[in-house]
Amino acid sequence: MLCRRMDKAGMTTGGCGKGKETAVFRIAVLVSGGGTNLQAIIDAIDQGTIKDTEIVLVLSNNEGAFALERARRRGIPAVVVSPKSYAARAAFNEALLDCVREHQPDLVVLAGFLCAIPDEMVEAYRNRIINIHPSLIPSFCGKGYYGLKVHEAALERGVKISGATVHFVDSGTDTGPIIMQKAVAVLPDDTPKTLQLRIMEQAEWKILPRVIDLIAHGKVKVDGRKVTVIGQDEEGGSQKGSQV
Ligand code: GRF
Repeated sequence: MLCRRMDKAGMTTGGCGKGKETAVFRIAVLVSGGGTNLQAIIDAIDQGTIKDTEIVLVLSNNEGAFALERARRRGIPAVVVSPKSYAARAAFNEALLDCVREHQPDLVVLAGFLCAIPDEMVEAYRNRIINIHPSLIPSFCGKGYYGLKVHEAALERGVKISGATVHFVDSGTDTGPIIMQKAVAVLPDDTPKTLQLRIMEQAEWKILPRVIDLIAHGKVKVDGRKVTVIGQDEEGGSQKGSQV
C-alpha cells in the first residue's frame, strides 16, 4: 500500500501511516556519479535502519555514472535522462519531471545530482525534494561549490570544522530549509580528497539515510525556513532516540 500525505508548509512532511505494516514510502534517488550515498541508502534499507521504504527509481543525467550499476545490481529501476539527448534545456527539464512523476515517489533524494532542478519540479514536489551537500551550509555552498571544490574552499579558508548538510530543495542553490547537519573535524594534513572521504564516512552516509527514515515516518515538520525533527530538542540532541 502506498501512502502519500504532506506538502503544505507547516505540516509534517512524509510519513507512512502508523500500524500499516504493508505501507511503503517510495523514494526516487537522483545521481550523477559514484553513488556512495545511494549505496548508503540501499544498505540502510537492507539493514533496516531505514524502515518501510523502497527505492522506486534511480535516475542519472550521466549514463556512465557508477551509481546506475549499484542500482541495477540491487534490482532497482535505473534510468538515464541526459541533457545531451534533448535539443533544448526545457525539453530535458520536462523529460526529467515526467520520468520522476511516472514512478510516483513520495520523496525525491538528490544524492550527488549535478543538474539544476527545474522550477516546475521544485513546485510539484515542494518540501518533498532533499539534497545532501558536503559542507555546513551556509559555508562553502551555492553555485560552483560541488565535488572537491567544496573541500578545496574549506581548506583554503582554513576552517577547523566542516561537515555535511541535508536540506529541502527550493528554487535557489543550496538555499532550502536545513533538516540536519553533522560536523566533522578538519585535520592539519588534510587534502581535499582526505577531507571529502572523512565527511562522507562520518557525516553524509549517516545523516542522509537518517533523514530519509525520519521523513518516511512523518517526523520532519517544516515551517517556512525552520525544520523541526519531532523527538529532537533544539540543540539537535535526542529525546526519543532519534539522534544520528
Ligand atoms: C557527495 O559528496 C554529495 O555530498 C555531493 O556529491 C557527492 C556525491 O557522491 N552532493 P556520491 O556519488 O554519493 O559518491
